[in-house]
Amino acid sequence: SGVEHLGDMIAEARVIVPFTGAGISTECGIPDFRSPGGIWTRNRPIPFDEFVASRQARDESWRRRFAMEEVFAAAKPGRGHRALASLYRAGKVPAVITQNIDNLHQASGFAAEHVIELHGNTTYARCIGCGQAYQLDWVKRRFDEEGAAPNCTACDEPVKTATISFGQMMPDDEMQRATALSQACDLFIAIGSSLVVWPAAGFPMMAKNAGARLVIINREPTEQDDIADLVIHHDIGETLGPFVRN
Ligand code: OAD
Ligand code: ZN
Repeated sequence: SGVEHLGDMIAEARVIVPFTGAGISTECGIPDFRSPGGIWTRNRPIPFDEFVASRQARDESWRRRFAMEEVFAAAKPGRGHRALASLYRAGKVPAVITQNIDNLHQASGFAAEHVIELHGNTTYARCIGCGQAYQLDWVKRRFDEEGAAPNCTACDEPVKTATISFGQMMPDDEMQRATALSQACDLFIAIGSSLVVWPAAGFPMMAKNAGARLVIINREPTEQDDIADLVIHHDIGETLGPFVRN
């Protein structure tokens, strides 16, 4: 079966780089973006230039984030996260490349420097001017007191979750490290991503072109299934559960 074949490929590989999307966190109670009931089926994304230009957009963006706080605060790593952490501890996985913003790879045991967050992190905030970091509690308190999204105490520019919005620059260091890892691995496993958002979606093909074997694990077909060496259209928790070692 596909899962047995995956086991052989993992056993044979020396350097495995996992690349994750929102599908790895749905069993943790966090909705993905494009499945029925997903975030973008309920809300239109707020592009970065709109966040910068419009106070209304900033307020709306923060209201959405606060509405999700209980979900993010309660979420624990799932079987997919724990399987990858097991391979990391075993020395097979040097780092994980993720599009996710939920901090669950860190929570599963990856050192922060071994989680390459292409789209940032929603568990804290940053000033978009000077980069000053803020805790969400601080933002929430100021929002409740003033009835509006706060600006930076140092430079007065807007404070935003530390995530990458559409139209916002990709983080340079993370892009470079993800490129180097994709080209250095012999097995690249894309997990729980529709692979439609670029430039992130370019890493599977980059790894494949550099000689790695490519596995895609996703319930739905993706646009890149045809270039993969193995495609598993199955639940992630069930597929990766057998690789969890405690
Ligand atoms: P998507 O919502 O586009 O894709 C998630 C995929 O995971 C879907 O194809 C689902 O079928 C699959 N899936 C969900 N739960 C699963 C499960 N338990 N087992 C197997 N498959 C499952 O999410 P991403 O590809 O991560 O970026 O989205 C990419 C980017 O688009 C995000 O990082 C975010 C979003 O806009 C920005 O906002 C910049
Ligand atoms: Zn600032």
